[in-house]
Amino acid sequence: MSLENMIPMVDTLAWHKPIQKELKQAATRVLDSGRYILGEEVAGFEQDVAHYLQAKETVSCANGTDALVLALSAAGLGPGDEVITTPFTFFATAEAIVRVGATPVFVDIEPESFNIDPARVQAAVTRKTRAVLAVHMFGMPARIQEIQALCKDHSLWLIEDCAQSFGACVNGQMTGTFGDFGCFSFFPSKNLGGFGDGGLVTAQSGAMAEQLKVLRNHGSRVQYQHEYVGYNSRLDEMQAALLRVKLKHIEHYNKERRKLAECYRTHLQGVEVLLPSGMEHVYHQFTILVDQRDNLKAHLANQGIASAVYYPLSLHQQPVFKDLKITQDLFVAEQTARRCLSLPIFPGMKEAQVKHVAKAVSGFFAEASESPGYWFSEAAS
Ligand SMILES: Cc1ncc(COP(=O)(O)O)c(C=O)c1O
Repeated sequence: MSLENMIPMVDTLAWHKPIQKELKQAATRVLDSGRYILGEEVAGFEQDVAHYLQAKETVSCANGTDALVLALSAAGLGPGDEVITTPFTFFATAEAIVRVGATPVFVDIEPESFNIDPARVQAAVTRKTRAVLAVHMFGMPARIQEIQALCKDHSLWLIEDCAQSFGACVNGQMTGTFGDFGCFSFFPSKNLGGFGDGGLVTAQSGAMAEQLKVLRNHGSRVQYQHEYVGYNSRLDEMQAALLRVKLKHIEHYNKERRKLAECYRTHLQGVEVLLPSGMEHVYHQFTILVDQRDNLKAHLANQGIASAVYYPLSLHQQPVFKDLKITQDLFVAEQTARRCLSLPIFPGMKEAQVKHVAKAVSGFFAEASESPGYWFSEAAS
């Protein structure tokens, strides 16, 4: 099998090829500036993102995990506080909650969206609940307006984990602007992927943005005076300059992802995406549900096609959470972790490549007595 016939999960070189000149100019600008931390590029990037998302305030930081930690810290959460969240997400979501000393309370996801179920959130609220941390998984918005209303009713902080949802919106409003804080990651494979680590928090008020800025810089407002024990979590000038280039093209990238997803649906019978009206999905991942997941993965690998399991365990099944009190059954999350398989999707991917992957998947199902699904047939019936 020749290398050009292999299909990776993300091909960053194919993605960046059309903008190489712009990227090199931006990198040279930073090299020539002599300023590498918290300078004009970072300030400019924060403004550009605020404008794109229509967010009141934006504060960049070192990565998406820190974005969550900074938001939870700025909200003043700590020991004794419960934060309701989804168990079907990357580990960092719950890790950040534990990192500030609070306790994650996992509630199940909806069978049709991979996202936290607002009715389950409502049922999990206790006297100790202080916040809801909702994740927009795979680029599909969670039912954020229902969760927002619920948080208002119970006076809870709402934090959105938008690591996978840059540019996704609900009724024209961007994810990351519904909550008190929206936390973004610029890990290279993300929809707005950088060239290393990077993150950003949106906030609803200048006071909260100021708090985030102090926390990201060792708890210091005035040099060498420290009001809090904070973090060293700053985005660097080089990342900011390169991300500004990619931000200019984000609409195009997300449009490409939607087109590729449509192509998958056309060529993969039985896969449907149930999108409530008004929701704009940005397909960070194109994920299907399959009983014989590991066999399908091996079948694709034999044909040079990458696929990935995001994520193989519901977080309550992780060894580190073995002693955590589980208050609700997490059946859908467990089953989803057992059956999910993400297929390659990235800007720069060719429709011919999507058709090739779809053909390989269909070939597998022609032999197996199963068809792929996007949601659980058990729960959907
Ligand atoms: C849902 C989710 N939350 C948080 C993170 C953490 O972001 P980072 O890797 O930038 O720390 C990720 C990154 O993979 C993620 O997918």
